[in-house]
Amino acid sequence: MNEKKLKFNSKVIHGGQAPDKAYGAVSAPIYQTSTFAKPSPTVNQEFEYSRGENPTRAALERALVSIEDGTHAMAFASGVAAIDAILRLLNAGDEVIAINDLYGGSYRLFTKVFERYNISFHFVKMDDVSNIEKHINDKTKLVWIETPTNPLLTIVDITKIASITKKHNLLLAVDNTFASPYLQQPLTLGADIVMHSISKYISGHSDVISGAVIVNDKEIADKLYFIQKSTGAISGPMDSFLALRGLKTLHVRMQRHCENTAVIARFLEKHDKVEKVFWPGFESHPNHKVAKEQMKDFGAVISFVPKGGNFDDAVKIVETLNLFALADSLGGVESLIGHPASMSHGSIPREEREKVGIVDGLIRLSVGIEDVEDLIVDLDNALNIV
Ligand SMILES: Cc1ncc(COP(=O)(O)O)c(C=O)c1O
Repeated sequence: MNEKKLKFNSKVIHGGQAPDKAYGAVSAPIYQTSTFAKPSPTVNQEFEYSRGENPTRAALERALVSIEDGTHAMAFASGVAAIDAILRLLNAGDEVIAINDLYGGSYRLFTKVFERYNISFHFVKMDDVSNIEKHINDKTKLVWIETPTNPLLTIVDITKIASITKKHNLLLAVDNTFASPYLQQPLTLGADIVMHSISKYISGHSDVISGAVIVNDKEIADKLYFIQKSTGAISGPMDSFLALRGLKTLHVRMQRHCENTAVIARFLEKHDKVEKVFWPGFESHPNHKVAKEQMKDFGAVISFVPKGGNFDDAVKIVETLNLFALADSLGGVESLIGHPASMSHGSIPREEREKVGIVDGLIRLSVGIEDVEDLIVDLDNALNIV
């Protein structure tokens, strides 16, 4: 079977997934072992010690290679462990240009950890890609993007940014967590490195913390393998199994997530208690055209600001919802709601947050795959209490 020729939905289920060699198990078994017996000290085996390689993790990594159209993948203990490994490709003195509206945990890792090791970061608005070139100098080594961004759903043009990074011989890394490989595959658009918080759409059931890096260049892969093996932040066998099990329904989940989200975005847009809705599916969204070209659909996260946009009303709304659980994650089958100013983006100073539009009243929805009518009743009840 030539896997490369399979369409996406078939790759999700079969990509890299031949039956297990030991007994023909169709689902990759959980190899819950730290080490593997050798017949002789001089024999090198595919699996020797599970920090270096483990068959369950390897099955997940092969699946990730297939669905992101890469050549090598590494599964990590978390999304931030994956980001950490990518940043360790750099040396003291290097500079990074990062998108300004990014996940709070990435911002914290960049500014509170890597800046201590003399790596500098420029946070730049990138929907106008010419802003990137203004910050490139001899020390620049990496451009870091998220698209859609968390939580304001800005879309940036991966192909255009890749042409800039190629021209200047820089690495382009894309945090593809919000889109998932179902909606876009950054390596095929010219990125060098794709990163995921597997904890979100890929695993899809809010029961795993795991992360991934996928590349299509052996030299970068070898460096990342070395970093992963040396620093040890691997995805364990049980988590890898759960991630792989979740991954196999990514396409059907994402399709329903996106359908429900479109209905909710339009409901919120018309609601008289809502001031502003951020969703790239609106024709009025400033990056709608790029989203339409770059993504299969518009994703399943929406942010909105209730009328008046104050902190207390936003807190009242998120506390009143029933079906939407107030929780810090996204991408699971169940709908979740978050208040970025006090939760996911609480680590970004208020003036920095507000500069990019993450105002006190902003509320973020991760729309699940329940019946959308029930979700709308829940939202309507909560909005009508303020
Ligand atoms: C866009 C994005 N990137 C990275 C991460 C970090 O992933 P993890 O929580 O698996 O470490 C998150 C987590 O919320 C995220 O939303």
